[in-house]
Amino acid sequence: MIVSPSILSCDFGNIEKETKMLHDSHADWLHIDVMDGNFVPNISFGFPILKAVSKYTDKVLDVHLMISNPDAYIDEFAKCGAQILTVHFETCTHLHRTIQQIKNKGMKAGVALNPHTPIHVLDEILPELDLVLIMSVNPGFGGQKFIQASVEKVQKIKSIIDNKGLDIIIEVDGGVNLETGKQLAGAGANALVAGSFVFNSDSPSQTIDKLKQL
Ligand code: DX5
Ligand code: ZN
Repeated sequence: MIVSPSILSCDFGNIEKETKMLHDSHADWLHIDVMDGNFVPNISFGFPILKAVSKYTDKVLDVHLMISNPDAYIDEFAKCGAQILTVHFETCTHLHRTIQQIKNKGMKAGVALNPHTPIHVLDEILPELDLVLIMSVNPGFGGQKFIQASVEKVQKIKSIIDNKGLDIIIEVDGGVNLETGKQLAGAGANALVAGSFVFNSDSPSQTIDKLKQL
């Protein structure tokens, strides 16, 4: 299992320490939640935090854009060290173009789906994608309750990907803990984002290890 702890729940007063802790852990990626107060009802952080994090780790930066008009910022995210750039289906009028732009900048391209967005909207674009991000909460905040219907959604996308013989990572984000993570692993998820579950635990690195074993 690929584990991508979300720094949204970390202590930003100690970003160097928190990043080094994740760097020394068995986390595969670092999940970076960028929110603009427009697409989602919350504002998180932007380029300066991304640059700060990339100073202390060379692990894959898995950037999740919860912003309107992501096309305008693709270049800048590449420059700041993003290796995976995931945009929301709901924010992209010309999704195919957006995906090509992300890949042209040397990044892996992901598309996130809100809980209400059906997976069939990805039918035509699927062969172009490196990653699909199934949101198991409504995006905008850490620490929300897992939406149970996400498990079935993961099963569905997994069978479509397998039937088409594609090689696409299925990542799930929101309310992930050992119990929901186990269900998601069984459904075919191969990457899990976890924010509050990791950072609110007594030992974040041990919690990461437990998630990795799912
Ligand atoms: C929510 C973000 C998530 C968030 C997950 O909009 O996309 O990545 O950090 O937090 P938890 O794991 O606490 O649900
Ligand atoms: Zn996220």
